[in-house]
Amino acid sequence: MSKQPIGIFDSGVGGTSIWKEIQALLPHENMIYLADSKNAPYGPKGKQAIIDLSIKNTEYLIVQGCKLIVVACNTATTNAIDYLRKNYETPFIGIEPAIKPAALNSKTHTIGILATKGTLSSELFHKTAHLFASDSKIIEQEGHGIVELIEDGKLHSEAMTGLLEVYLKPMIDADIDYLVLGCTHYPYLIPILLKILPKCIKIIDSGEAVARQTKAVLIQHNLLNQSTKKGKSTLFTNANPQVITTLLGASNDISYLDF
Ligand code: DGL
Repeated sequence: MSKQPIGIFDSGVGGTSIWKEIQALLPHENMIYLADSKNAPYGPKGKQAIIDLSIKNTEYLIVQGCKLIVVACNTATTNAIDYLRKNYETPFIGIEPAIKPAALNSKTHTIGILATKGTLSSELFHKTAHLFASDSKIIEQEGHGIVELIEDGKLHSEAMTGLLEVYLKPMIDADIDYLVLGCTHYPYLIPILLKILPKCIKIIDSGEAVARQTKAVLIQHNLLNQSTKKGKSTLFTNANPQVITTLLGASNDISYLDF
């Protein structure tokens, strides 16, 4: 079983930011990545629709024999991971916005969070914010349009810079010192964000923590691949493969699949 792949899914190409972190920490693991770009964005959809799409992705990965599934999507985690854990035996790793470390380290006691509507309106997000950041002011911003531009291959565009300037201004004005990226598409924005944000604002995301948690759970279930060979990753998208190829480079194994 330990040689079986890790399955990873996201509403689109964004979860590859998590796939990269896992590959860096666990280079001997085989992985299957599903970019459900045909159904992106998940953010504006209701909870049940997000659960249904998460079931579809999960069942495909289980049929492929995945030993563990990483829900590399904050929106799917915050809306669907409880359902998945209750209904499938496979271990699941999820991703949630890193508000805990941001609130713990903030000197201004004011943190910003950029995430999808689906994440910011979820019960799980509110629970986590209440538990770990009740002493901080949280400036929330829904990232309308950001995922769509990335999925459309327009990461580096005037439209993207324009959106980000509008979304960040209230946070900068409120004196945040941490910006939490609450969507796995957003680490790809970091070079643009660094040009807009004052230097005193630190950017934080959960990618590395997810990779560490993946390793810990594999060890706990005795599922760590003991091979010394480099693992094989296969990435599938149900939309135009060019977008993911441009993000990751053509040397990766990327194909179209209608899942
Ligand atoms: N990458 C997804 C996330 O982390 C994007 C959600 C969407 O498709 O709206 O939330």
